[in-house]
Amino acid sequence: MTGTSGLSSVRASYDTVAVDYARLLGTELFDKPLDRAMLAAFAEYVRGGNEGGAERAVADVGCGPGRVTAHLDGLGVPTFGVDLSPAMVAVARRTYPGLRFDVGSMAALDVADGVLGGVLAWYSTVHTPPTELAALFAEFARVLAPGGLFLIAFKAGDRRLRLEHAYGHPVDLDVYWTPPDLIAELLAGAGLVEVARLVREADENEKGPQGFLLARKG
Ligand SMILES: C[S@@+](CC[C@H](N)C(=O)[O-])C[C@H]1O[C@@H](n2cnc3c(N)ncnc32)[C@H](O)[C@@H]1O
Repeated sequence: MTGTSGLSSVRASYDTVAVDYARLLGTELFDKPLDRAMLAAFAEYVRGGNEGGAERAVADVGCGPGRVTAHLDGLGVPTFGVDLSPAMVAVARRTYPGLRFDVGSMAALDVADGVLGGVLAWYSTVHTPPTELAALFAEFARVLAPGGLFLIAFKAGDRRLRLEHAYGHPVDLDVYWTPPDLIAELLAGAGLVEVARLVREADENEKGPQGFLLARKG
């Protein structure tokens, strides 16, 4: 659960692994052309997707050490990061001093209604049970401008995996694998209409297919 105790476990786990997570995954995107293609398409849609799109910021929610925040910012869309874990945010600030990173929950973003050009959730909802995703998606829809874009990367499947060890440390995490059709349905319920999706097979370090879904606020 991501009730109060669930969120505490997520925060504590990512505080514990932050430095090693950043070290081990820092250059991971270099080897993932399809993932980079989805980020590039997202950036392009954001730039052209709404009135004044180039000026509107993107929130990278659950940004971790900021590696994807920086990648996206480098694609020409001004991006800031938000993460539950103070240690992750500290690493992100240290690594990318020119970018903004805030400690906060993506369930209650400190952002006004309808102002963002995009929201990116890159593997950051994987610890949220599918039954609780609708509320998160409603929050993302709230902060997006009309025509704003949403991109999610997730574990594609239908199972829960218990993680007790990761990145060289003990952790206390559930990882939810979610069917792409369910993600699309829940997004539609929040007013985020599917534009495209990609499901790719696992690479050598992954335990199953990876899903990516791009949606637009109607
Ligand atoms: C698997 S990591 C992904 C980090 C980053 N997006 C990346 O790809 O490197 C998941 C991140 O989501 C964050 N997170 C999980 N639930 C969150 C929530 N409710 N609000 C904000 N951040 C959250 C965790 O602290 C962690 O840094």
